[in-house]
Amino acid sequence: MKLLITGGAGFIGSNFIRYWLNKYPDDKIVNLDVLTYAGNLENLRDVEGNKNYKFVKGDICDADLVDKLVKDIDLIVHFAAESHVDRSIQNSEDFIKTNVEGTRVLLDAAKNNGGIRFHHISTDEVFGALSLNSDPFNENTPYNPRSPYSASKAASDHLVRAYFHTHKLPITISNCTNNYGPFQFPEKLIPLFATNLMEGKKVPVYGEGGNIRDWIYVDDHNAGVDAVVKKGKIGETYCLGGENEITNLEITKNILNLMGKGEEMIEYVSDRKGHDFRYAMDITKAKKELGWEPKLKFEEGLKKTVGWYKNNEDWWRKIKTGEYMKYYKKQYNENNK
Ligand code: NAD
Ligand code: TYD
Repeated sequence: MKLLITGGAGFIGSNFIRYWLNKYPDDKIVNLDVLTYAGNLENLRDVEGNKNYKFVKGDICDADLVDKLVKDIDLIVHFAAESHVDRSIQNSEDFIKTNVEGTRVLLDAAKNNGGIRFHHISTDEVFGALSLNSDPFNENTPYNPRSPYSASKAASDHLVRAYFHTHKLPITISNCTNNYGPFQFPEKLIPLFATNLMEGKKVPVYGEGGNIRDWIYVDDHNAGVDAVVKKGKIGETYCLGGENEITNLEITKNILNLMGKGEEMIEYVSDRKGHDFRYAMDITKAKKELGWEPKLKFEEGLKKTVGWYKNNEDWWRKIKTGEYMKYYKKQYNENNK
């Protein structure tokens, strides 16, 4: 099988490529990524030499390029997105371009080239926010996005479903909860806090830290995507999650513990605008229909992840100083002139 992965030099996509090439070594992967601030070829140094792996630097909004690339593709797994809520609050322009228009371009290329199997990666955030006592989201929860990020992802989900109903494009969608693990960009809670502590900096907890997220280890998410792609029913959506709800303050205390630091390193800062209170996912459908469930316990996964950031200072320090943008992208562009 030959796969087109979009956004494969970002956090989840790079872990997916590594996962897939290990599990299905005969499959071929083309990784299309424009390398925004979040894309980093360092994430895939270990697979760069694999003869079944090819990187293409390009934009998913570039219809001519996408149309050429999908010619001999059997499966598209679409990760590419602007992914950070705080950035979408500052400026939502790129979120609409990439998440909505980029998805439309990919769908048209899949449709116009014989109806290529298309899996769309989405988020629990499209369902809105839960209160403390409400039931977790499931596949039938009405959409109610509340940030520009989640609104753009919701729009892309709707488009993907519309191409199934209108054009019979063979699609599936997975909506997953908060991921964590190696190679996550240090603007997200877990890597930001772990790396700040290594730099001797405080950790900025929004509001009082009472917001709740459901965390899943990135390989468990990717195993779920694998299950949907192989066993999912065409046209269907599957909710994936870690069954692991925890407040931001509890996570922060766990990270402080793992780093041997005290609570004086917490800095309570102004809350995020429109901060969704709680996300949680009911994953019964994926368990029943796909035989999938998350495996790694949060305590173990968090320890492993914090350990990874401790052992890979070179990776995140280059990001935090901005050196990775100057050096790696320049080098790549020169090598590929
Ligand atoms: P990320 O920001 O780490 O990576 C996104 C990648 O997409 C980057 O490599 C970037 O360069 C690339 N990209 C952005 N715009 C592009 C464009 N126009 N053309 C080509 N490539 C482009 O994101 P992530 O955390 O790995 O998330 C991947 C996907 O998973 C996203 O669709 C996101 O909505 C979804 N998701 C993420 C989480 C999470 O907790 N991180 C949870 C659920 C779903
Ligand atoms: P984040 O990792 O940005 O993921 P998302 O907003 O997509 O869930 O944030 C996770 C939670 O942590 C969210 O409730 C916001 C909070 N948070 C902080 O308290 N401080 C921070 O510096 C960041 C980045 C997030």
